[in-house]
Amino acid sequence: MKILISDKLADEGLDILKAVEDFEVDCKFGLLPEELKAVIKDYHGLIIRSGTKVTADILDAADQLKVIGRAGVGMDNVDLKAATKKGVIAMNTPSGNTTATAEHTMGMILALARNIPQAYASMKAGKWDRTKFRGVELHGKKLGVIGFGRIGSTVAKFAKAFGMEVLAYDPFLSMEIADQKGVVMVAMEALLSQSDYITMHVPKSSETRNLISDKEFGLMKKTARVVNCARGGVISEAALVKALEEGKIAGCALDVFEQEPLPLDSPLLKFDNCIVTPHLGAATSEAKVNVAI
Ligand code: MLT
Repeated sequence: MKILISDKLADEGLDILKAVEDFEVDCKFGLLPEELKAVIKDYHGLIIRSGTKVTADILDAADQLKVIGRAGVGMDNVDLKAATKKGVIAMNTPSGNTTATAEHTMGMILALARNIPQAYASMKAGKWDRTKFRGVELHGKKLGVIGFGRIGSTVAKFAKAFGMEVLAYDPFLSMEIADQKGVVMVAMEALLSQSDYITMHVPKSSETRNLISDKEFGLMKKTARVVNCARGGVISEAALVKALEEGKIAGCALDVFEQEPLPLDSPLLKFDNCIVTPHLGAATSEAKVNVAI
């Protein structure tokens, strides 16, 4: 069986594959779409992270392909319909980076509440300003979690340790699970209008594209802080820029963007109350090993 690994994978995962006698493993990173299309016909297995886009065009050329392994959660870089049509199984590693992403989300919430990146930049610029960066607490505040899967529910658990009350919206959430996890199941409108912090944990799909847009920002408190460590595009960036310009929310923290890398001329970069990180949610040593294995 010939396996192509087209995005960097931790050695712990590679070693497992290389130990199998019948597997011939090739690592070819950073292939352009046309280069991937040219080589894919020789392979039975393809292992990717988020860098490789497995489009219908690539799948069309993948005559021997049986399986795609996605080392990570999001499957939005694989055309699942085209894969199914071609009889190719696509699998992800749903729990490998849950902790990493949930911890990054908490980091973003805290950074946003306490102005940590702004205070850091100010001190590095030689200033000592203890008034400008006064923050707000998490304790006693409401955290709205949109999407209550593995990551959303882990964020809820962490937030509860900070004394937050958690409101959860997820069409697949049952009252029983909500009770077990100690969160309040609410409709989307209630979550948007009551939460002090709102965090997104939904996959990117046609149903979740622009899930948060003008109307939703209009329902939020002016003091609300919005976090997205899920996928770019589940919050409309145009609507977010407008909400920041018009002071409809207090701030936002984004790890993911409609276009990645985020273009340097993105209007999001001009707001001091918009904290950004370059898609680091799953970027821990532990998560990289977990998803590779
Ligand atoms: C994921 O979907 O697993 C994370 O966003 C990290 C990645 O894109 O690989």
